[in-house]
Amino acid sequence: MKKRIFSGVQPSGDLTLGNYLGALRNWAKLQDEYDAIYSIVDLHAITVKQDSKQLHHRTLQNLAMYIASGVDPKKNTFFIQSHVKEHSELSWILTCNSYMGELSRMTQYKDKSQRHGDSIPAGLFIYPVLMAADILLYQADLVPVGDDQSQHVELTRDLAIRFNNAYGETFTIPKTYTSPFGARIYDLQTPTKLMSKSAEAQAGIIFLLDDEKVIRRKIARSVTDNVGLIQYNDEQPGVKNLLNIIALIRDKTTAQVVQELEGKGYKALKDEATDAALSVILPLQKRIYELLADPAELAGIYTSGAERARDIAATTLDDVKQKIGFVL
Ligand code: TRP
Repeated sequence: MKKRIFSGVQPSGDLTLGNYLGALRNWAKLQDEYDAIYSIVDLHAITVKQDSKQLHHRTLQNLAMYIASGVDPKKNTFFIQSHVKEHSELSWILTCNSYMGELSRMTQYKDKSQRHGDSIPAGLFIYPVLMAADILLYQADLVPVGDDQSQHVELTRDLAIRFNNAYGETFTIPKTYTSPFGARIYDLQTPTKLMSKSAEAQAGIIFLLDDEKVIRRKIARSVTDNVGLIQYNDEQPGVKNLLNIIALIRDKTTAQVVQELEGKGYKALKDEATDAALSVILPLQKRIYELLADPAELAGIYTSGAERARDIAATTLDDVKQKIGFVL
């Protein structure tokens, strides 16, 4: 039996080159080896205020981006979280088995809640429990997430073990999946910070749907240094980041890229990074727009995805309900 992967992505913010190189592209490489289920987690998105029109649009757009990135809907399951009611239900049950203390220790909660003054949405506090429900409903073995989410996967393990101990074997205990192709792309203006779709300033972020002109400009204006040499080291984070982008896209080692650019200036480095970025982004955009222009194709994908997801999720939830004594 193939191991099962589950991951979720929030339809908040537009996806970036960092998301593509760090996640999307790698997911396509996992599809033969694993049974992968991916969810656009709209229930998570509403833990902070969302514009309704944008939420709707981004949910479909994100789905299109995954598919355009080569994650094949025939080999993977894609669905929209709110289409499978079991997530909300299991989330409540797990909430009743979680402690205020452990939830208060979540770093992301501590960070995000600070922005809300006296009106911290309770959903922000429960957020990691909903994430645990996502993962546990599918008996996932592996959860590919960035470092910022690994604490939530730890909590998921704790909740699963607690439930299993109290009620008998129910949930598979998941692990964080660290990709062997892992890539971290940094902000072009602040190359010590990850390129994040939720960052405030956009000049350092390449969005997958940016215009070609905008992409050229952002890379041309990316921050380097005054060393003036193309070398791969931590003292030159801007140069290092551009080298990483080129190497990842061109499927080369950074040493090879450094060698090819030897003796050249930063202009040549930026030109090469631009060519590389556009070589993946332009075809991706073409496919994304094709998909968005054909709502029936997308609907077919998320409808059949939800059916399969619901089958698995309902089996787990029934088992849980029976164990806790609900009358079925
Ligand atoms: N919290 C994750 C993030 O912000 C998204 C997410 C929700 C998720 N549910 C999940 C990731 C389940 C992995 C598994 O990135």
